[in-house]
Amino acid sequence: MKNALSGLLDIELTAGNGVPLSRQLCDQLRDAILSGRLPTGYQLPSSRAIADYFHIARNTVSSAIDQLTMEGFIDVAQGRKPVITDLPKRALSSDRKMNAANAPDRTARSKWALRISDSDWPFAGEPRAVPFMPGLADPREFPHDLWARCLRSAARRVKMTPALGTVNRQGLQVALLQHLEQFRGVRAAPSQVIVTPSAQAALELISRLTLNVGDLAWVENPGYRGARAAIESVGARIEGVNVDASGLNFEGRTDLPQAIFVTPSHQYPTGVLMPVARRQALLRLASSVGAVIVEDDYDSEFHYDGRPVAALQSLDVMGNNVFYVGTFSKATYADIRVGYAVVPAWLARTFEQAQRHTGQIVSATVQDGLAEFINEGYFVSHIRKMTRIYRSRRDHLVMSLRRELGDILKVDSPAGGMQMLIRFNEYVDDNALSARLGAAGVIGRALSRHCIDCDLRGLFIGFAAWNVQELDHGVHVLASELRANPALR
Ligand SMILES: Cc1ncc(COP(=O)(O)O)c(C=O)c1O
Repeated sequence: MKNALSGLLDIELTAGNGVPLSRQLCDQLRDAILSGRLPTGYQLPSSRAIADYFHIARNTVSSAIDQLTMEGFIDVAQGRKPVITDLPKRALSSDRKMNAANAPDRTARSKWALRISDSDWPFAGEPRAVPFMPGLADPREFPHDLWARCLRSAARRVKMTPALGTVNRQGLQVALLQHLEQFRGVRAAPSQVIVTPSAQAALELISRLTLNVGDLAWVENPGYRGARAAIESVGARIEGVNVDASGLNFEGRTDLPQAIFVTPSHQYPTGVLMPVARRQALLRLASSVGAVIVEDDYDSEFHYDGRPVAALQSLDVMGNNVFYVGTFSKATYADIRVGYAVVPAWLARTFEQAQRHTGQIVSATVQDGLAEFINEGYFVSHIRKMTRIYRSRRDHLVMSLRRELGDILKVDSPAGGMQMLIRFNEYVDDNALSARLGAAGVIGRALSRHCIDCDLRGLFIGFAAWNVQELDHGVHVLASELRANPALR
């Protein structure tokens, strides 16, 4: 018996660790077979003997053996003891765990895989959810109970609905469009509203559907790295177009893009607003060269001073050129994972096809829940509440930055959104400062990381997700780092 059990000596079962004993036994036997420790032809002891050996119930052993028999690792002929099957050599490996030595060569990966594994976006080394993280909403203030109620009633309705396989739920298309018409002046038919798992997914799909390998896309410089990532994923060329006090400054350019990515209502990251004359010039340029415009209206819900300017999409009278992109992750909470695009009618059907081809589809329950959340008025009242809260946080942060560090930096109070840009009175190595802040548990994103070959320096910081004490802590850390390290300047 001792001999027959020798193949099982490495197996260790732990009661009460949350994993059923039969599952532990099954997994460890499978590992032993795959690693060759239990060789082909090895005859396992009877299930009674195994049960006695491990002090477990015989049923537990039988269920592990049954599972491995079903998977083809073990043969159980009538009345005989179980035997390890003869597996093809390739299936066996002495160490199944991947390690650098046996991982496939880098060249076995696609060019895109190589590009994204070498990319520093999303910004590597940034701590998550610590003060000043840009673009983050405050989930503590979200009405989770009301949201749960909407989700619950959407989930209940699924019982009554046969699986329709709808990609974009009409209820949400209508509700969202009404909201966008009222607050952003967006003009479209409900079928042009595409619901995606994030704004990033919308940017990615738009890039795929409007750009070919080698095509030229303009992006703002400095600008949103996510837009660059989406364009790069299709292998198009990127040209950074400088941003001035009126946004994208394309005057005098002779290169002709196929797509132009802009954040006209609150330029990312400078916060400037593109005035109507520049918007019209951009639309004229796009239609004269046959380019599409991708309008990323990522945080347009929050306006603190004066009335917001309508979306660029509303000026596209023929409705042919502008793809309007937005997200719920700012106006609700980051992990809700719902974004959207309002696309020109001529591409709406193809867009839906693309969603099917790539699986960029949001759960019908979440879509229906969101429609209810909007229709019941919860969405707008949450935005109103957060606008009040964010405005006071913005004011507090601007005031304390000016009070504590007015001799070193400049900060303009942003008219909207969730983040602000700090510029310095003299040279500051923004990357080095950002790294020091990260080590101290605060995010200050270096402006230079948003640049393509430009020498802008500054810090991009968020104020929305942080209460007054957390903001004060962030200012305190920033002040200590800046004052203690004159070498950064
Ligand atoms: C300018 C801009 N566009 C798009 C997004 C992406 O939003 P989502 O989280 O829905 O992908 C962000 C998020 O920070 C953003 O700042």
